[in-house]
Amino acid sequence: MDRFIIEGNRDLAGTISVSGAKNAILPAMAACLLAPGKSVLRNVPNLIDLKTMAHLLRFLGAHVDFNSGELSIAAATITSNEAPYELVSKMRASIYVLGPLLARQGEALVSFPGGCAIGTRPVDLHLKAMEALGARISVEHGYIHAIAEKLIGADIHFEKSSVGATINALMAAVLASGTTRIINAAREPEVDTTIELLNKMGARISGLGTTSLTIEGVEKLVPAAMDMIPDRIEAGTFLVAGALSTQPVTVENCVPGHLDSLLEKLRAAGCELDIRDTGITVNPPQKIKPVDVLTLPYPGFPTDLQAQFTVLMTLADGVSFIEDTIFPDRFMYVAELNRLQADIRMERNVARVRGVASLSGAEVMASDLRASAALVLAGIVAQGQTTISRIYHIDRGYDHIEEKLNRLGARIKRETA
Ligand code: EPZ
Repeated sequence: MDRFIIEGNRDLAGTISVSGAKNAILPAMAACLLAPGKSVLRNVPNLIDLKTMAHLLRFLGAHVDFNSGELSIAAATITSNEAPYELVSKMRASIYVLGPLLARQGEALVSFPGGCAIGTRPVDLHLKAMEALGARISVEHGYIHAIAEKLIGADIHFEKSSVGATINALMAAVLASGTTRIINAAREPEVDTTIELLNKMGARISGLGTTSLTIEGVEKLVPAAMDMIPDRIEAGTFLVAGALSTQPVTVENCVPGHLDSLLEKLRAAGCELDIRDTGITVNPPQKIKPVDVLTLPYPGFPTDLQAQFTVLMTLADGVSFIEDTIFPDRFMYVAELNRLQADIRMERNVARVRGVASLSGAEVMASDLRASAALVLAGIVAQGQTTISRIYHIDRGYDHIEEKLNRLGARIKRETA
């Protein structure tokens, strides 16, 4: 298993570029199953999770090619309706094939995703949405079995904002007969990208950017080509890296409008920000001010940046409180940060972070994707050497993060066991 060896106490400076958004590309790949023919997604990074999704689409009968940032998906025919345990257990986002399979094939057999390192993650909202559209659902032998000769448009009320369930509902409803309304839809930028792609394919979805979406079902979709949006979580990770430095760091190829809640917190921590159309320069403060954070659905502060921001707070001049309302148990990394001599105490599901003068390098273990990114940031500023094992987590969602950060002055070595 690969690990990172990080020489700490490094000051980052310069410009770093953001790749395409994993969490927009995963549903876009699944959406390509809806249109017979070849669709093309551009600005696609080289990530393990995207390879896992490609593997699943091939298993279903699609032809998938990846070449220099361009992913082509040809789904002339679908030869299987099953997402097997082997693939779903590797990546929960495999559940994204449920809506498209049901819409195009009238049947889907998808392995039930289990728990994961960030806590219990149910799929009840996905299933309720399919049921609202007329699907018959049963759960047997660890599999979700959904059947519907023809989906029928309906009102879907989500009691909770869910990115995945909103996207799955959209992908099922586009080919349903009649009108579907999604109430309390998630409005993350990744949902918008899915809507834009589906509309390019001939779907009729209105309400983009709002919590109320209307879908007029169409007979069929056609293939499309589209650029994928930059990854706001990767951008946010690099902005926090800049805030931890003493020199300016510029994050290029991002959409500043997708990062408002983080930018507000960075300003509150004392950073000066220079915001342009597709780039942000962060000028770090002399002393980091403590800032409380509560994660919320978009446009609130993203849970996917919670761990990285906590690292910034470990070096703040005072105490801050970090609470995750989306995934309340997403704090497995705290024990690892404390091994680096951070001072974090969990009070129920809230992290109480008392800033310390410096972190001290140690051996730590990554528990999930964003936790790994947080440990990398901590390792860069800690005194001495930090070794992070289980970094396969980070390769799921960051394209060669060590090479990108090393170009800013970090010293991260990948050791392949
Ligand atoms: C997406 O997961 C992202 N994954 C996650 O990113 C991200 O943390 C999350 O949205 C929140 O922004 C992908 O896009 C592939 P949700 P998703 O449904 O869709 C509850 C990363 O690191 N819920 O919006 O699974 C759920 O437990 C990953 O890149 C139900 O109760 O998240 C949570 O509390 C990790 N029932 C809340 O809703 C359901 O059926 C929001 O989750 C579905 C969700």
